[in-house]
Amino acid sequence: MTNAVSFSSVSALEILDSRGNPTLQVRLETKHGPVVAGVPSGASTGTREAVELRDGDPDRYGGKGVTRAVANVDGELAELLLGRDWASLAELDQAMIELDGTETKARLGANALVGVSMAAARAFAGPEPLWRSLQPEGVEARLPVPHLNVLNGGVHAPNDLDFQEFMIAPVGAPSLPEAVRAGAAVYARLRALLRERGEVTGLGDEGGFAPNIAAPEDVLRLIVQAITESGYPAGADGVAIALDPAASELYREGGYAVAGETLTSEDMIDRYAQMVEDFPVWSLEDGLAEGDWDGWQRLTARLGERIQLVGDDIFVTNPGIIAQAIERGIGNASLIKLNQIGTVTETLEAQRVSREAGYGQMVSHRSGETSDSFIADLTVGTGTGQLKTGAPARGERVAKYNRLLEIAAAHPGLPYGLTPGTYRR
Ligand code: PGA
Ligand code: ZN
Repeated sequence: MTNAVSFSSVSALEILDSRGNPTLQVRLETKHGPVVAGVPSGASTGTREAVELRDGDPDRYGGKGVTRAVANVDGELAELLLGRDWASLAELDQAMIELDGTETKARLGANALVGVSMAAARAFAGPEPLWRSLQPEGVEARLPVPHLNVLNGGVHAPNDLDFQEFMIAPVGAPSLPEAVRAGAAVYARLRALLRERGEVTGLGDEGGFAPNIAAPEDVLRLIVQAITESGYPAGADGVAIALDPAASELYREGGYAVAGETLTSEDMIDRYAQMVEDFPVWSLEDGLAEGDWDGWQRLTARLGERIQLVGDDIFVTNPGIIAQAIERGIGNASLIKLNQIGTVTETLEAQRVSREAGYGQMVSHRSGETSDSFIADLTVGTGTGQLKTGAPARGERVAKYNRLLEIAAAHPGLPYGLTPGTYRR
C-alpha cells in the first residue's frame, strides 16, 4: 500500500448478480479516476458469516433488495470517507468497522463494507497491479492452480446430487495457461460423456453440469473418465479432484443425508477415506458440518496427513475462529472468502493466521457473483496457490480465470502451482 488516498465521491448502485439477485456495485472517485467493485453473495452460507444486509421488502426482489445497504454507502460511509486523507487500507477498514459498531457488520451491512473495502484496495493500489499491492511482506506471489467446479449439486442445482461441488485441479500442469486449457478440455469431455449417457447437461449456479446422479462415487468415476479421455493422467501428474460436499447443508437432526441414506460423522469419515483410496481426491472442503467440531477433529486425525481438509462454513474467513480451530487440530487449510468477514484487511488477517500455522489456503468466489475479478489478484498477491471460481464457462466465472491469464502474460516470472508442501497425497 503506497501513498495516502482521498475520495471525491463515494456511492453504490443496486445491480444484479449471476443468480439474478440484487447486489451492490460500489464506486469511489479518486484524483486518478474511479475505482469500482462488485459484491459477491453465497447460498450455502455459514451461520457465523458477517451479515449481508437485505431490505426484507417482499414487494421488491422477494425481500432480497439491497437499497438499505446502498443508502448506507451513499450516506454514513460516504460521510466517513470523504474530506480526509487515508494513510492505508487497514486504517480505512478499521474506521468502517468502528462506525458499524456490531460484531457481525449487521448495522451497515457486510455487503456495503466489503464493496467499499474492495474498491478502496484498488484506490490504494493506484497504477500498481492490484495483486502486488495486496502482497504481504515476505510472501512470494504465485499463480494458483485453478479449482474448476465442473459438476454441481446441493443447493447450487435442482438435481438429486447432495454433494455441492466436484472440482478438477490441474496440479500437474506446467503453467497457468496450460492449466486453464486442461480445465476447459475436461469440462468439454465431461459434457460429451453426460450426453452419451442421456443425462441433462444443464448448469448449476457455478457453471458446472447438474445431472441427476445421486451417488458421489458415480460422479467421481465419470470425472476420472473425462480426465483420462482428455489425455491427462488423473492425479498428481495431471488433473486431481477436489470436493466440497458443503456438509452443513446435508446435516439434519441425527445425521448427514447423502443419496437417500442418513449417515453419522463416523460413516461420513469412512466414506471419504474410501473415496480417497479409490479416486485422486486431493482436497476435501466442508466434509462435515460447521457445528460438528468433534467430527472435524476425528476427520483431521484420520485423513489430515493424506489430503487437504479445507474449512469453509466452519471457519468463515474469521481470524479468531481459525485460531481456535488450529488450536483444536481441525482441518489443515482455510477457504478464503472476502464477504464472509466483510473487509479486505480482515481477510488478509485470516490469511496471515492460516499461513503462520502452516495451513493451506484456497481463495474462493461465491455462488452468486459479479464480473469483478478481485479474487484473482488476491490469490496471486497472497501466494495461496489455489483459487476456486467455478466452471471454465459463464462470464462471472471466467472473468477470474481470464484475469489470471492476463497476470500470467504480463508477469512471466511468476511461479505457478500449489504452494510447496501443500500437496499431501
Ligand atoms: P456459496 O457456496 O457461495 O453458496 O456459499 C460456495 C461454497 O460453499 O464454497
Ligand atoms: Zn464451501
